[in-house]
Amino acid sequence: MVLGSRIAGTGSYAPARVLTNADLERLVDTSDQWITERTGIKERRIAADDECTSDMALRAARAALDAAQIQAPELDMIVVGTISPDRQLPACATYLQQKLGIAGMPAFDVSAACAGFLYALSIGDQFIRSGTHRHVLVVGVELLSRVINWADRNTCVLFGDGAGAVVLAPATEDTGRVLSSRLHTDSTLTESLFIPAGGSREPLTPVGLEERRNTVQMVGNDIFRVAVKNLSSASRAALEVAGLGPNDVDWVVPHQANLRIIAQVSARLGIPLERFVINIDRFGNTSSASIPLALDEAVRDGRARAGHTVLMCALGAGISWASALVRL
Ligand code: ACO
Repeated sequence: MVLGSRIAGTGSYAPARVLTNADLERLVDTSDQWITERTGIKERRIAADDECTSDMALRAARAALDAAQIQAPELDMIVVGTISPDRQLPACATYLQQKLGIAGMPAFDVSAACAGFLYALSIGDQFIRSGTHRHVLVVGVELLSRVINWADRNTCVLFGDGAGAVVLAPATEDTGRVLSSRLHTDSTLTESLFIPAGGSREPLTPVGLEERRNTVQMVGNDIFRVAVKNLSSASRAALEVAGLGPNDVDWVVPHQANLRIIAQVSARLGIPLERFVINIDRFGNTSSASIPLALDEAVRDGRARAGHTVLMCALGAGISWASALVRL
């Protein structure tokens, strides 16, 4: 009997080019000290000029398929969480499918900003749980360096590029599984974090381009306040639904937006920071990619192992937020 889905394999990819805080000091009026103290970020990765979003997704997807020992043609669905796709049309997932050399199965994107991977994970889990699909590739990928205003110190110091993926497969009694997931959106803060121009509401004009209205704009404080509260409550809800408590959690893999947010969520949940997987210092905020990137790192270095209970939580533009509890 199918008990839902399990994570059969994880993979990730980060571009080789490293952009340090010292590099940013030369671009905008900022300092390593400010960035480190206010965010915890020391460096981030930037995609090569000839690299696009689906290239990064492909690298992460291949690693996850290898880890799961599943061939690409065995996939029944591809779901990609991203807000920085190759093109506005068609979906990044279609380019990924093409690059994997497969066709036929549904391949589509989910736009939920930093919560995109957990939204995609939940969708994949539901399809496997219902018994209609067996293998779902779930990807979180962002090439944010191309939608950032590199003259805006409020945002350019925060973000980085990267990709992470998991392959979901049916869970049975003797395997791990996705225990619960919670998805939320509150649209009262839509314009606290957004890309103003380039869509139907504000088509991009030469003036808009000059004013960089096609790049991310953020009122960081608005997001910070709700992030701590909502990430904590969604995490508690995911635990409650599964009948578990904070002490049952082996690892928390939080969205890597700000070390201060992570520390405050740790305090609110009563789960020590030592049980959080943190790589924000090396990758910055990679939006949809941040959770699968950190999860893959923890799986590959042996921290997160079969049988471990992993809590994941993320919040981003929308604002959309989500949590998931997984037994590996
Ligand atoms: N270097 C130096 N000074 C800076 C910089 C910088 N890079 N950026 C801002 N400042 C200045 C500001 O101008 C301000 O100066 P002022 O007091 O003279 O006006 C001062 O620092 C304080 O600015 P705040 O915005 O209040 O700084 P804060 O402590 O809130 O930190 C930050 C800003 C890091 C953005 C924080 O608010 C944050 O992390 N917010 C949440 C981000 C988040 O979670 N986003 C969601 C995910 S992203 C997505 O969905 C794509």
